[in-house]
Amino acid sequence: MADCLVTGGAGFIGSNLVRGLLSRGRSVKVLDNFSTGRRENLEEIKDRVDVQVGDLRDDDALFNAMLGVRYVFHVGALPSVVRSVEDPQTTHDVNVTGTLKLLLAAREAGVERVVLSSSSSVYGDTPELPKREDMLPNPLSPYALSKLTGEHYLRIFHDLYGLRTYSLRYFNVFGPRQDPASHYAAVIPLFVAALKRDAAPVIYGDGEQTRDFTYVDDVVAGNLCCMDAPDEAAGGVFNLAWGYRTSVNELAAKIAALMGKDIRPVHQDPRPGDVRDSQADSTRAREQLGWAANVPFEDGLRRTVEWFLDQPAP
Ligand SMILES: NC(=O)c1ccc[n+]([C@@H]2O[C@H](COP(=O)([O-])OP(=O)(O)OC[C@H]3O[C@@H](n4cnc5c(N)ncnc54)[C@H](O)[C@@H]3O)[C@@H](O)[C@H]2O)c1
Repeated sequence: MADCLVTGGAGFIGSNLVRGLLSRGRSVKVLDNFSTGRRENLEEIKDRVDVQVGDLRDDDALFNAMLGVRYVFHVGALPSVVRSVEDPQTTHDVNVTGTLKLLLAAREAGVERVVLSSSSSVYGDTPELPKREDMLPNPLSPYALSKLTGEHYLRIFHDLYGLRTYSLRYFNVFGPRQDPASHYAAVIPLFVAALKRDAAPVIYGDGEQTRDFTYVDDVVAGNLCCMDAPDEAAGGVFNLAWGYRTSVNELAAKIAALMGKDIRPVHQDPRPGDVRDSQADSTRAREQLGWAANVPFEDGLRRTVEWFLDQPAP
């Protein structure tokens, strides 16, 4: 019976995490409703994973998914700022109510550890960089607020009920299997997909906004660290990021160079709820979880572009 549960395991980060757990010899279950996840993400490992189609808002689905599980990686969520601005209620239902229901089911089932995929968006637009976990959060979107609320629920379940919980704040994760086709797709797959069909990538705003782009293998490694992290770190919140800033203009230029394309991006209006600059200090994760970023941005970007170029046209 599987002792690890990955919610959202059919999504971008979740499907990479499932592979990371399998390569460590763990047995894995996935709970996913395939709202943004895809079957293809688990295709060549589908015989090694127990995939349960179910919703985070469904108590019975959660109860069944928890049976026999020691470690829960709660990756499943509606992950888009833009979507949350358009439809705050659904983001709240999935990301907040779904997380509370998951914690209740985990407590009931005697799960040992719960790891939450949280987000740098909780920091908002505060000017100080790099972001540290002791700074006051200032969520600017329903999505960011839903992630911050999830973190607090994890801490409270640790403090009140002794569940060992870890909230990991990711900063713009990228890598293989990130969906370029969704209406809410992230910037790197969008740029690669545009250039692949010789179209101009679209940049929202002046392109001088910066992000701390982090390769997905490093995020997977951070989740794996939480399986052995000391009990004293439980209840905590941890930044996980490469630690440097890259502007969206620089990013577009690097991807175009890697793909050998001479196509200039076009600029459109900035999007509401987007933050201007983002960069992490991950000292706490290094000291308390024993984690460090391992894949330089340029290496990760090259691997990602190569992976996308290998994919058949949709
Ligand atoms: N990609 C990033 O840069 C980034 C940054 C910060 C945080 N995160 C967080 O990491 C996690 C994974 O993000 P991702 O980029 O892999 O997104 P994704 O959309 O690829 O994965 C999310 C997964 O959750 C599933 N899901 C959504 N609603 C569900 C529901 N109601 N019940 C069951 N499953 C449901 C989706 O089908 C999908 O498989 C999310 O929690 C997101 O908030 C991502």
